[in-house]
Amino acid sequence: MVQTTNMAGNKETTHVYLKQRGVPDPLQDILERYSKRTSPIIIKHDLLRSDYVPDSLPHRVNHIREVGNVLATVLRGVKPSNLFLYGKTGTGKTAVCRYVVNRLSTEVAERNLNARFVYVNCRLAGTEYRVLADLCAAAGVSVPFTGLSKSELFRRFQSASSSLGNSFVVCLDEVDVLVKDFGDDLLYELTRSSMGPGWMSLVGISNDLMFKEQLDPRVLSSLSEEEIVFPPYTATEIADILLERVEQALRPGSVGEEVIGLCAALAAAEHGDARRAIDLLRVSAEVAEREGADRVGEHHVRKAQTLIERGRVKEVVSSLPLHSRLVLLAIYVASRKGLDTTSGTVYSMYREFCGSIGLEPLTDRRVSTLVSELDMLGVIACELVSYGRHGRTRKVKPTIPFNEVAEILGNDEALAVFLQGLS
Ligand SMILES: Nc1ncnc2c1ncn2[C@@H]1O[C@H](COP(=O)(O)OP(=O)(O)O)[C@@H](O)[C@H]1O
Ligand SMILES: [Mg+2]
Repeated sequence: MVQTTNMAGNKETTHVYLKQRGVPDPLQDILERYSKRTSPIIIKHDLLRSDYVPDSLPHRVNHIREVGNVLATVLRGVKPSNLFLYGKTGTGKTAVCRYVVNRLSTEVAERNLNARFVYVNCRLAGTEYRVLADLCAAAGVSVPFTGLSKSELFRRFQSASSSLGNSFVVCLDEVDVLVKDFGDDLLYELTRSSMGPGWMSLVGISNDLMFKEQLDPRVLSSLSEEEIVFPPYTATEIADILLERVEQALRPGSVGEEVIGLCAALAAAEHGDARRAIDLLRVSAEVAEREGADRVGEHHVRKAQTLIERGRVKEVVSSLPLHSRLVLLAIYVASRKGLDTTSGTVYSMYREFCGSIGLEPLTDRRVSTLVSELDMLGVIACELVSYGRHGRTRKVKPTIPFNEVAEILGNDEALAVFLQGLS
């Protein structure tokens, strides 16, 4: 038995020690909440994690079958067509891909076939080097963490796989992130490569619908021999997905239909994102547990929504590079001052800010690109306004309460001066 010894050296429990001195026990209510009297709401935390692949994927049976149809040729030793899956975040691309890959890998193993499935998340891998290192690992070659050239890694992967006589289905999830940072060279190599006796098929997955435009036409045509689009889920579909998760992961009776409906409606309001819905459900249950409630109520969902939104905005805004933060600041300050937030107004205010902190401003065009990126991140919204004969201009609008943005940007001393007297 472990005996606790407090700072005074007495062998007594800390709370007794505190009590004797009239100090309230800071952990008392928390410990009580976790005592046997109140049962937890979340029973299986793992099932609410975003990387969990459920056994059944409601409303994605057709997608599973389509992906399965393309990849199942491996069971005959025939190279599957390259496949490109795209759709917005949370539409089930990763889950469907992993589901099919898991099932086919099992079949391949049971039938003693010579094919391997490799799944790499390019955003998590981070660099082309890491993606190639993951491919090498799948072919059984271990390579140093850094230091080799990409072509050397590729050569080692090819020679290892050809000596194994192996064929590969390589799934590159969130491949758009890799291409954005490094261009499409690696995809070009992979789609062109010859693999000795075996072959390699690619499954590219992208959350970015415009991704195709960034690809060299040759890469695009070989990557998207087959294409499957994942549409956003409707609120009803999300409710079905949540219902299954609730039944598996939460204590029976702890979540009512109204809560599932609300989570589904909130997640569908932006675009039908199942990840958001599951996150919302999880955080709502956590909030309810923390409050010592027996069931999750709609007010817990509302609180969870605010918590998640704040966290997301904070994460996005604080990771922006300086110029993007200055552009964002210009937009929010201009709008707070009641100015007409056209591209022109935003640019001149941005220039002013740059000037007063001694920074060389970027060109008008470059700033326009940054504005589009901010729009994509959802921290502002752009709309084209027509001025009849005088042409069109882009208007930029805040999407977040001014005070929230000001609080985050104000943490930066250089930017705080521009916010003075505005909140
Ligand atoms: N049809 C579905 N049934 C059950 N869970 C789903 C379904 N679609 C998505 N999910 C869950 O929603 C979350 C997001 O799905 P994911 O496949 O990662 O989306 P994407 O890759 O398109 O961004 C994951 O936790 C996943 O398990
Ligand atoms: Mg995904």
